[in-house]
Amino acid sequence: MRLNKFLSSCGLASRRKCEDIIKAGRVSVNGQVIENLGVVVNEKKDKIIVDGVELKLPSQFVYLKMNKPKGYACTSSDERGRKTIFDLVESDVRLFNVGRLDYDTEGLLLLTNDGDFANLVTHPKFHCEKEYNVTVEGELKESDLAVLRKGVVVDGTRMPTAKVKWLNFDGKCTKVSVVIDEGQNHQVRKMFEAIGKDIKLLKRIRIGKVVLGGLYRGKTKPMTQEEIDSFKVGL
Ligand code: URA
Repeated sequence: MRLNKFLSSCGLASRRKCEDIIKAGRVSVNGQVIENLGVVVNEKKDKIIVDGVELKLPSQFVYLKMNKPKGYACTSSDERGRKTIFDLVESDVRLFNVGRLDYDTEGLLLLTNDGDFANLVTHPKFHCEKEYNVTVEGELKESDLAVLRKGVVVDGTRMPTAKVKWLNFDGKCTKVSVVIDEGQNHQVRKMFEAIGKDIKLLKRIRIGKVVLGGLYRGKTKPMTQEEIDSFKVGL
């Protein structure tokens, strides 16, 4: 199998992140540093080392869903010493997060050691929907929502279109639902910044058919087989 697939199947990171790790010269195969992304390895025979640690394919895949709280970074080690989502996970096997949420965003996050699964969820060609509840200060007008739906322009680039639905206004803040099927960095925050609105609370409540449901903040639980398989439908 290709080296990046092997690395992500070992739970190192998503396949695309593994490509960056290879390009950075952190991987050796049988004692030789490999920076070529096309390399194919024999997972049974080759000795594959990343940052001095030998990797082996896991005997079993793990799939978790988490309700990420605000104030946690989606990284295995934060250079600023902040708390990370892995402080909240107890697992005997090495896991990585499937996509990411900003430090100040809360809600549904998936964790796994299955690189193929992560690819199904995150690769833009699969158009996996992500749904957010967004709370902003003040009242949002229908014309604001129409602009968001069409795709606002940020730094000269048009953001992808989004499904945007007004949920409620409590006299101080407006809550809207936003559904996107691409995952550009800080996409939802940038959309609202572009219409001059600061997000007070951003919470992801759904990825594909998997919903956050009643999972408590900071808690994780195994995904059901039905939830895992829901990403494979139509393949
Ligand atoms: N969009 C954002 O701006 N931030 C997130 O955390 C997720 C989506």
